Amino acid sequence: MNVTPQSAILPEAGPYSLVCVFNLVGNKDKVIRQCQGLLEVAEKLNQQHVSACIHLSFGFGKAFWQQFEKGCPNDFEEFAPLGSGDVTAPSTGGDLLLHVHSNRHDLNFHLLSSFMQPIASEVELIDETNGFRYLDARDLTGFIDGTENPKKQAARQEIAIIPDGPFAGGSFVMLQRFVHNLPAWHAVNVAQQEQIIGRTKPDSVELDEVPADSHVGRVDLKEEGKGLKIVRHSLPYGTVSGEHGLLFIAYCAQQRNFREMLDSMYGEKDGQTDKLLDFTKAVTGAYFFVPSTEMLTQLQ
Ligand code: HEM
Ligand code: MG
Repeated sequence: MNVTPQSAILPEAGPYSLVCVFNLVGNKDKVIRQCQGLLEVAEKLNQQHVSACIHLSFGFGKAFWQQFEKGCPNDFEEFAPLGSGDVTAPSTGGDLLLHVHSNRHDLNFHLLSSFMQPIASEVELIDETNGFRYLDARDLTGFIDGTENPKKQAARQEIAIIPDGPFAGGSFVMLQRFVHNLPAWHAVNVAQQEQIIGRTKPDSVELDEVPADSHVGRVDLKEEGKGLKIVRHSLPYGTVSGEHGLLFIAYCAQQRNFREMLDSMYGEKDGQTDKLLDFTKAVTGAYFFVPSTEMLTQLQ
């Protein structure tokens, strides 16, 4: 395969992430040239700061992608709002996604700042979220997040990267920013929290009987005996006094895996919702297509 996936996808999430969603309000050509130029900026920063390990990817919302005459990947849909009553997920869209992860919070800032300066009047930055690895890779609920995430490069490649066809080397991203209600969560005892997640709290061991309405019960899906998989890069974000939660971001070679998991979490399959959603609420939701590096650098 003579194509290279964008660099954020395959390596495990670094300790600091930056996830930005933009809408295009001005000149698309300037914006795309700035995206292409940022790959070189990142490469130079990585040479100057050898332990920084800056990885990044650009994703495109469907409406924006369709302006490039590259055709549209099969099965590329907009994020549909989900759920009902108190358990809902909005669709908030976005033309462009920038996902950066590295060992350096300051360089993530620097990268975004240098990206924005020349195109400040061409785009609107609608969500900018800094993520951080918390303790031993825990979500702010205190549970380890990522235990069942595929670790080996070959498995991550197989799950996340489109293997062949015109969009080979590309990937789909699902993004949801969740705001947690930690006072409500902390009011629940640990045994009950474990029933809600489906794993133990100290060491993330799957329960002998995983409740069907637990988070793991909702998202650990099988089709014809084979697990539906995605590659997660989520990290906690926020401030103690303000909003905080999980910036959920994941990659997959097919969008369908996300839709299956979301339908299961939000009660669209059997009316049963994910109990975790009683303690956290998505405030954004969007899908993006992440072309291969070669396709990104050829866009015009
Ligand atoms: C597993 C947390 C949202 C997909 C887990 C685990 C935790 C967790 C603690 C168990 C450990 C692990 O295997 O990583 C959260 C939190 C969320 C959230 C706090 C939001 C606030 C989502 C969403 C999806 C998702 C939106 C997909 C649509 C998965 C998958 C697994 C998982 C696929 C692995 C299941 C398995 O194979 O056992 N999550 N998650 N999660 N989560 Fe989430
Ligand atoms: Mg499993």
